[in-house]
Amino acid sequence: MKVTVGVCGGIAAYKAAELVRALQKHALDVHVVMTQAAQQFVQPLTFAALTGHKVITGMWETPDESGGSAASSIEHMDAAQTTDALVVVPATANILAKFAIGIADDFLSTLYLATTAPVIVAPAMNVNMWQHPATQANVETLATRNVRIVSPESGYLACGMTGAGRLAETEAIVEAVLSVLHHRNDLVGETVLVTAGGTREALDPVRFLGNRSSGKMGYAMAEAAQKRGARVILVTAPTALRAPADCEVVSVTTTEEMRQAVLSRLEQASIVIKSAAVADYRPKVQAGQKLRRSGPLTLDLEPTGDILREVVALRHPGMLVIGFAAETDDALAHGREKLMRKGADAIVLNDVSREGVGFDSDRNAVTFLTQDRSIEMAEMPKRELADHLLDEILALRRPRQVLAEADAGLPVAAGD
Ligand code: CTP
Repeated sequence: MKVTVGVCGGIAAYKAAELVRALQKHALDVHVVMTQAAQQFVQPLTFAALTGHKVITGMWETPDESGGSAASSIEHMDAAQTTDALVVVPATANILAKFAIGIADDFLSTLYLATTAPVIVAPAMNVNMWQHPATQANVETLATRNVRIVSPESGYLACGMTGAGRLAETEAIVEAVLSVLHHRNDLVGETVLVTAGGTREALDPVRFLGNRSSGKMGYAMAEAAQKRGARVILVTAPTALRAPADCEVVSVTTTEEMRQAVLSRLEQASIVIKSAAVADYRPKVQAGQKLRRSGPLTLDLEPTGDILREVVALRHPGMLVIGFAAETDDALAHGREKLMRKGADAIVLNDVSREGVGFDSDRNAVTFLTQDRSIEMAEMPKRELADHLLDEILALRRPRQVLAEADAGLPVAAGD
């Protein structure tokens, strides 16, 4: 597989050489692109010698004798199409801003726009630059666009300051590259049925009983599964979101509509992810006309069907069924109880009382609960979290012994 390393102009540019070596140890064919500024820190010849390939140093220059080369506009399209991943090390505040806005004024920024391969950025810069709202907003934008961020570490920085901004360890960057490459196509052949959003139960023609679910987590799951090669059926209650491209979208409003949409497609699904927040009750009688104000009002409600339990009851062999639980109190106990009661393979437990995560947020922190495991997933963008959840969902298919060995830090058998 071919990996392109984009080197930017930062003091950590020399560490890109170490990364190139580390990636080669995993039998990856590494190519290097350098920005103008990067060449102030490291000679292109270093990377040319390490990789055995010409280093692309600019859009228009003629070949020089230092190992750098010219790149024609055709060449950047070729590089964009043939690479399996683009990893930018160190990613400066400048390149993050260019990527976020879509400026293409040099080879690396053009390559970023032109490639459909996964992109990983490992930022490194002065602590104030890293913490600046502009940089943080750009990083957030890139994360929501599916760029994998390998966050910088805290420590003593080359500028003499101490704080976050030091390039992540080479191993962490290598791990991100390998995981991104590994993700490609690991869901080929699977049909993933995802439910998303919050269902609504009408009280009258203008009002409904609903909930605060934005659908973002479910849409992130659908997009991540689709990117990894699955066929995705997204059964969605109303949201303000644009459905990921190439998913089969089924729009529903009520719990009963969602139930029918899910059950009628269950045959086709190999993995069911029930991230929707489903109304548990609906009005017994729906007013045909707008309810008028006239003193206190009592609503007579009846329970809706529990779709997750029905899915579990009707599942076919080999199907994985994953539920979600949004809890406000005693989250772990409620999550465990729900796992048992619903009979799902796993519950993604969401403590929505925590600030900054959960409903309508772009970020989330969850616990992945199975019969015998409880995996904490720290706060991160929902799209990134979706990939971690899919990793764990797929791991449910692996024999338990292998999981136990992985937990104990023992080597996992080849092929896993
Ligand atoms: N769920 C479902 N059908 C319902 C209610 C919930 O399929 N009528 C699914 C949700 O999509 C979610 C899981 O069950 O995956 C847990 O939902 P939650 O509302 O937390 O569970 P409830 O059974 O409604 O329990 P409670 O309201 O008591 O917390």
